[in-house]
Amino acid sequence: MSTETVLTTHKDVSFDPETYVSTYYSSVAGHEEEGDGLRFFLDGLSDAFKSGAITGIRLLDIGTGPMPHTAFCAAPWFEEITLSDFSQKNLEFLQKWKDGKINHMGPVCEYLVQIDPASSFEKRQDELKRKVKNIVKCDVTQSNPMVSAPVDGVVFDAITSSLCLEAASITLEDYAKSVRNLSGLLKCGGHLVLVGVLEETFYRVGDFRFKCTYITKDQLQDIYQKEGFEIISLKDLNETYSAHMEEYDYSDFKNAFVMVARKVER
Ligand SMILES: C[S@@+](CC[C@H](N)C(=O)[O-])C[C@H]1O[C@@H](n2cnc3c(N)ncnc32)[C@H](O)[C@@H]1O
Repeated sequence: MSTETVLTTHKDVSFDPETYVSTYYSSVAGHEEEGDGLRFFLDGLSDAFKSGAITGIRLLDIGTGPMPHTAFCAAPWFEEITLSDFSQKNLEFLQKWKDGKINHMGPVCEYLVQIDPASSFEKRQDELKRKVKNIVKCDVTQSNPMVSAPVDGVVFDAITSSLCLEAASITLEDYAKSVRNLSGLLKCGGHLVLVGVLEETFYRVGDFRFKCTYITKDQLQDIYQKEGFEIISLKDLNETYSAHMEEYDYSDFKNAFVMVARKVER
């Protein structure tokens, strides 16, 4: 049942990390309104990384929020991982997780280990914690999104980002600028592994509804190609899984995707 909510943006309000995790990541089934969305994302991330084709020294995850599951999939193939977010609350939550004071990754990462059983959840989580060298403030809407030491000026071998770009801006023009800003942090030839939703106008955390960029699949492809990415694969939810529900209280996305792209020389 819908309750009173406030429509806002991430620039005005930071969501509560605990509420976000309990709403969307308390089990691999995800939120009941989002159909098979979470499993689709996890399958897509696992597929993107498990062959080892995407590899390098430095990996950046943009807009990690309280959930470093994207970096969990990438960790075996990189040496130094930077997690980043706009919200101080999320950065503090991630630091507590790294320090062993919070243990919230089990429900999601046990599934990742089940579909890619190279080693146990505990071993992979320890590896990820060991490789996370920085947990830093980032604003992907700025032309230099990473202004904190020691990552200011660093170019990364690969970037991951999940559900952040569409939440960071509202207009398509601003979305495209964020893609340009992100691209400036990636070396030429480096990979971008992106998880996102299509045709969404909001998602909800607690009493707040966060505005999102409404973007179609065609617009998405157009923007990344114009910003100098070659799209290697783009899987979308509606082609493979059951449809999203008719009534929306928590988010109104119509489709979701996992994209692997490469920054090309220009
Ligand atoms: C929907 S959450 C996604 C969190 C996590 N990556 C996931 O997949 O569940 C969106 C995240 O983007 C972050 N964010 C919003 N605006 C941002 C910006 N301008 N730069 C970087 N991160 C931003 C928010 O603080 C939030 O943690």
